[in-house]
Amino acid sequence: MLELSKVTRRFGPNTAVDAVSLSIPEGQMVGIIGRSGAGKSTLLRMINRLTGVSDGVITHSGKPVSSLSGRELRNWQRDCAMIFQQFNLVPRLDVVSNVLHGTLNMRSTFATMFNLFPREDILRAISILERLGVAENATKRAEALSGGQQQRVAIARALMQSPKLVLADEPIASLDPLNAQIVMDALKDINEREGITVVTNLHTLDTARNYCERIIGMAQGRVVFDGKPDELTTDAVREIYGAGADGAEISEAMTSTSLNARGRAADVKVKTNAAGEVVLETA
Ligand SMILES: Nc1ncnc2c1ncn2[C@@H]1O[C@H](COP(=O)(O)OP(=O)(O)OP(=O)(O)O)[C@@H](O)[C@H]1O
Ligand SMILES: [Mg+2]
Repeated sequence: MLELSKVTRRFGPNTAVDAVSLSIPEGQMVGIIGRSGAGKSTLLRMINRLTGVSDGVITHSGKPVSSLSGRELRNWQRDCAMIFQQFNLVPRLDVVSNVLHGTLNMRSTFATMFNLFPREDILRAISILERLGVAENATKRAEALSGGQQQRVAIARALMQSPKLVLADEPIASLDPLNAQIVMDALKDINEREGITVVTNLHTLDTARNYCERIIGMAQGRVVFDGKPDELTTDAVREIYGAGADGAEISEAMTSTSLNARGRAADVKVKTNAAGEVVLETA
């Protein structure tokens, strides 16, 4: 169980995440949605401790994640692998070495410097790449791959860490619809087959609905919705996306109509009508 208790992050006078409390059981697939600036990335980064916590406590299986340091902190960061929108691979390095870098914090500096990897790790890396359908690119430089392929390599690198959790920050935001679907299917698959908890920020509502058993909606640093996809009513969507005090419009980019995984729920579009009201359109 991952537990957040009144977790807050301030940047100067701004509160990016405001007293968020959540319990995420092992094996859940959770989507976090919300407008730009709602605090989604900051929340994920605090869980992984890429960003420190200003107030509140994060624990995992009773371990106080938010106050770990040194070796214990490194172990935690290995247990919760991060996936980023921009993949964060080493572009000039071959694919299999990129994946093997997932074992870096288990290895000596010396072995790392000379790219010395045990044979069993290399075989494991290749079998993970195979599973993700990108093994034929194992010897290519990462930069030679398409975005969708690179993101699958990033997922392979994450799996190489044998993580307990995968945290993905808008993993499909830079991908075309087909690659977005392939990458989301891969995340769903590791969640279902290995039982790894997946927490992912998503900028499209329908992707969250199609893939996640639980959706958390954030607005202005707070959790304003937490429930199953079918509990996400029009009002809930308005509260998540429409609460802008500035009256800013809901943009079409918040939804995408092209992802319809596994024949699940129909797409829902969030639109602003001529009167400036937020409306939902079901396909
Ligand atoms: N390192 C930082 N320094 C100062 N302010 C920051 C920093 N990181 C985030 N913020 C602020 O915290 C708030 C939340 O940002 P965050 O990146 O978490 O939002 P987000 O929901 O991920 O948005 P997006 O959908 O655009 O990625 C924003 O107001 C942002 O400007
Ligand atoms: Mg973000």
